[in-house]
Amino acid sequence: MPSQLPHHHHHHHHASTWNQPQPQPPLGRRGSGLLPCIAISTLVLIILVGLAILIFWLTVRPAPLEFSVDDASTHGFNLTAKELNATFNLTLRADNPNHRIRVYYDSVNITVWYSDQMVAFSEVAPFHQSHRNVRTIDVDPVAKSVPLVASVVDNLKHDRSAGAVELEVRVRARIRFKVGLAKTKHYTLRAYCSPVVVHFSSSARFERTYCDVDI
Ligand SMILES: *[C@@H]1O[C@H](CO)[C@@H](O)[C@H](O)[C@H]1NC(C)=O
Ligand SMILES: *[C@@H]1O[C@H](CO)[C@@H](O)[C@H](O)[C@H]1NC(C)=O
Ligand SMILES: *[C@@H]1O[C@H](CO)[C@@H](O)[C@H](O)[C@H]1NC(C)=O
Ligand SMILES: *[C@@H]1O[C@H](CO)[C@@H](O)[C@H](O)[C@H]1NC(C)=O
Repeated sequence: MPSQLPHHHHHHHHASTWNQPQPQPPLGRRGSGLLPCIAISTLVLIILVGLAILIFWLTVRPAPLEFSVDDASTHGFNLTAKELNATFNLTLRADNPNHRIRVYYDSVNITVWYSDQMVAFSEVAPFHQSHRNVRTIDVDPVAKSVPLVASVVDNLKHDRSAGAVELEVRVRARIRFKVGLAKTKHYTLRAYCSPVVVHFSSSARFERTYCDVDI
């Protein structure tokens, strides 16, 4: 918006130089002639800006980025009275449905949560995603000697014997968008995927979990 101010000023100045050679109007009417002029140019400006936004929207048609967890399993799951060891093998799906927007994932972190406690972390190598592209991300966050409070251990033991554990997978990424040649600033993308139901038996089928994505 501030970039339009000088433009407006210019118009105003231009109008008053045109007025100079004309016979001087009576004092009272000079001001009232200028006011509609300002009002009209302001209106034109608002219409032009609105039109530019509309054209941008219609050509770019931004659509939200989508995430899901398509597969999850756990290996080397070993729980004692105080700590957990486990590897979570996750397959995430990142979908960019946009026709004209590319996405640069400059930093991507995946965390695994159980009962509001983070149990495993993994960093994904930066990547960039072109338009209308689906990317599969295989990542294996490891829980290594993760200390757990007694109540969490009890719940986990219960889940272990029931055959499945409900986890939350979170994605946090620093991203930029590219439209044509223009790149935006960095945004923080957060995806919350819950419940991710991981079965201990390898014969059980995994249900895809869709994530809530926040940017
Ligand atoms: C779990 O870890 C303990 C201590 O490291 C080990 O003694 C035990 O054999 C492990 N259990 C399994 C099932 O891997
Ligand atoms: C799970 O992840 C571990 C650690 O990266 C890897 O060694 C193992 O092969 C993976 N297992 C499966 C079934 O993908
Ligand atoms: C977890 O793994 C570490 C070594 O990586 C080992 O010292 C510890 O005993 C293990 N704990 C369990 C519960 O298996
Ligand atoms: C990912 O984790 C690394 C190491 O902890 C950190 O430096 C980076 O800022 C994190 N990135 C995001 C997007 O949170």
